[in-house]
Amino acid sequence: MHTFGTILCILSGFILLFAFGWYGYSSSLLGRFVEYYNGATLVKLHYIGAGCIVVMAAFNVIYHGIKGDDSILASKSDIKDSIAEIAVVMGVIGDGSLFGIKGLYLPKSIKNVLANLFGRMGIDKPPHAGKWLPIEKVEYTFVFSVLIAVLIITGFIKVFKWKLMATMSPLGYVHNVVYTASWLHDAAAVIITLFLIVHVITASVIPVSWPCIKALVTKKMSLEHVKHHHEAWYKEIMRERGR
Ligand code: HEM
Repeated sequence: MHTFGTILCILSGFILLFAFGWYGYSSSLLGRFVEYYNGATLVKLHYIGAGCIVVMAAFNVIYHGIKGDDSILASKSDIKDSIAEIAVVMGVIGDGSLFGIKGLYLPKSIKNVLANLFGRMGIDKPPHAGKWLPIEKVEYTFVFSVLIAVLIITGFIKVFKWKLMATMSPLGYVHNVVYTASWLHDAAAVIITLFLIVHVITASVIPVSWPCIKALVTKKMSLEHVKHHHEAWYKEIMRERGR
């Protein structure tokens, strides 16, 4: 549901943005598409996507809050571990190759320089990944959660902009609030789209993440994969099974 909502918001949002021109910084494309363009329908589609995002965000916070499940939130050590994870994927530490694809190796000289640099930061071993990889936790906590929060807050300001304009004073102040909210909404929209593109490309290029993509649909993952790539999670499962 949140994937559907996000895709719908990105598509409808960017058509809305570029159709009217970007706050005077780019010319309106409306003229070119005027025969196909229906602003009201696009706004409705945007609201449907926004609804999905708001419901899913609330569900995530309430459901996991009640369960006390904060396993996806990054801790201090996850930042260091996510750098180690990038180093593993690049084949700089551990025995992996670039992006985990055999045959794609970094030249040894570059690897040595990087290994030295990471070593000085105390990063010389692959991280013990739990259910979530360290980089996923960092991305979720510091990038996606923040951007979604900004999109929702500024989105609501935009939804109620006419009511705000009518009730709040002085008018200049309200205008600035709505204008700043629009800017933040668009900046967050661009950044989240770029992150999602990188997120999808890296997940499709790195073979280790393929079973995780399959698990998104099947909700199942082989114990063998968990054992080799999510060591801490494997230990947890074995502990729960009493082995
Ligand atoms: C991934 C999520 C989202 C993206 C990428 C996105 C992007 C955009 C973009 C590019 C625009 C057009 C430019 C503008 O008017 O500022 C827009 C408009 C708007 N967005 Fe979003 N948005 C998202 C989520 C949301 C959410 C969650 C809400 C509400 C809570 C929301 C409410 C609005 C409103 C009210 C408008 C103005 C529509 C109009 O022209 O009347 N958006 N959005």
